[in-house]
Amino acid sequence: MKFFVDTADLKEIEELNDLGLVDGVTTNPSLIMKSGGKILDVTKQICDIVKGPVSAEVTATDYDGMMKQAKVLAGIAENIAIKVPLTMDGLKACRALRAQGRMVNVTLCFSATQALLAAKAGATFISPFVGRVDDMADDGMEIVSEIRTIYDNYDFKTEILAASIRTVNHVKQAALIGADVATVPAKILKALYQHPLTDKGLESFLADWKKTGQTIA
Ligand code: G3P
Repeated sequence: MKFFVDTADLKEIEELNDLGLVDGVTTNPSLIMKSGGKILDVTKQICDIVKGPVSAEVTATDYDGMMKQAKVLAGIAENIAIKVPLTMDGLKACRALRAQGRMVNVTLCFSATQALLAAKAGATFISPFVGRVDDMADDGMEIVSEIRTIYDNYDFKTEILAASIRTVNHVKQAALIGADVATVPAKILKALYQHPLTDKGLESFLADWKKTGQTIA
């Protein structure tokens, strides 16, 4: 499974990238707003840090506007993946951008049938929003599982990028289903390694080691 970090916070990205945990980055208009920076500057700085796919989202809702903005965003760096919403214009832009050889991440996906259309449009990535479906008291991870089955049925090459991840358990479930990527907030990515029994076990090893009076040198 590839880990993308779902943030536009440069400090978070640098810290996690130094740990070798970052295979890519996803941003969206809300994350850009949160960063306080200008989209082209922030995205360029992210691309200077992370060499994997960096998703930058268009904000136009019409095909022509999306294509104009995609050209600007794609000009930032080779590893830019253009993010388009799962609308008819977004799917049309996806097909056109893929024909140009651009990576495309189709976002705001909330159903397996939407994901089927994205795969037929040649999307590089499909982003089902797990957490936001859970927020509606439905089962977001079920959609990921349905997409996995459909994509495997027809050997679609579109990668499932589980998004709107809120918990460590979401990451586990997405991995068990076989999502290709999970885009994870920095807080959750850091929490993946934490377990109280690891801390407890290390503490007891060190206490016993101290009793030996030995050193390893
Ligand atoms: O960036 C796409 C997606 O991961 C956003 O998720 O629901 O936390 O805003 P959310």
